[in-house]
Amino acid sequence: MSHLPAAAFEAVWWDGDAVGYIDQRGLPHDIIRKRAHGVDEIVEAIATLAVRGAPCIGIFGAYGVALARASTDDDSAFASAAARIRAARPTAVNLAWAVDRVLAAAQSEHLSEARAIHAEQRAVDRAIAEFGAALLPDRCDVLTHCNTGPLATGGDGTALGVIIAAHRLGKRVHAYVDETRPLLQGARLTTFELAAAGVPATLIADAAAAATMREKKIAAIIVGADRIATNGDTANKIGTYQLAIAAAHHRIPFYVAAPRSTIDFALTGGDGIVIEQRAAEEVRAFGEQATAPRDVDVYNPAFDVTPGHLITAIVTEYGVLRPPYQEAIPDLALRPRLLLEFAR
Ligand code: MRU
Repeated sequence: MSHLPAAAFEAVWWDGDAVGYIDQRGLPHDIIRKRAHGVDEIVEAIATLAVRGAPCIGIFGAYGVALARASTDDDSAFASAAARIRAARPTAVNLAWAVDRVLAAAQSEHLSEARAIHAEQRAVDRAIAEFGAALLPDRCDVLTHCNTGPLATGGDGTALGVIIAAHRLGKRVHAYVDETRPLLQGARLTTFELAAAGVPATLIADAAAAATMREKKIAAIIVGADRIATNGDTANKIGTYQLAIAAAHHRIPFYVAAPRSTIDFALTGGDGIVIEQRAAEEVRAFGEQATAPRDVDVYNPAFDVTPGHLITAIVTEYGVLRPPYQEAIPDLALRPRLLLEFAR
């Protein structure tokens, strides 16, 4: 296993005539850098989770649109390329948001707009980390789910950025990490990033989460988000909802850390969030190893929706939002874009 610090390499980058990325499917054992040369490869990398995490697919999609623009003068071919990228995964709103933002820029500015989205994410992540770290006690065990670190955002991470920032501030933070079946983002990526950052961590099976909350006196649960409605309902990796229910039972604060770009201001509730359904094979097998009858029926939603009333606070780059979210979240839409001067 490589011991490169996670933040020492980029998850995605502009690479001249291609978009570079680390194929996250090889991690933690193989750091494989690849180049996407056109829209087919961009869409495939997103759909197969070679590039994943809500903010990161937004940045990658934004670079993909710039790449598509550079490779054709045909406006209708370009429009269909951008539409395909925008639809490569349905749940994380960051992808559509980033594609739309690049498309709204002048044609000659598409690449610089994509670069700005990437630079802003780094600044946004730093702000989230600072606000979130202040919420954690000086000495604590926390629990997290899926992967929300640099690999997922292209910056320092959201929920994981909070945990790493608290550690860097000298707080004695220990993280319990759900393995996050079926694709094991927690086991493969989060433990890797926490080790690189020097944060003590323990991997648990997803099924151990509620028992861990009780037995290990978890002080806080902190997760990321893929889409947040204006009432606080939050789509995130499958398994998040049951964590929030167990957290409420144990009276443990349940925090969501996410940038403003993850809020869907057009949605007033989680019912309108499209949940990506993924292949049965992800559940019928553990990696390459079949673990179920070949033809068993499978239900494999990639995300679930946690009701806003189960969320103690939402940590954004604008600060910590508390209920009632119906008031706190729409206010954010009116705020000016932050941190641009630091980001560029
Ligand atoms: O399917 P994935 O791996 O893209 O899912 C990622 C998550 O659910 C993350 O928690 C979310 O995107 C937040 S990333 C900062």
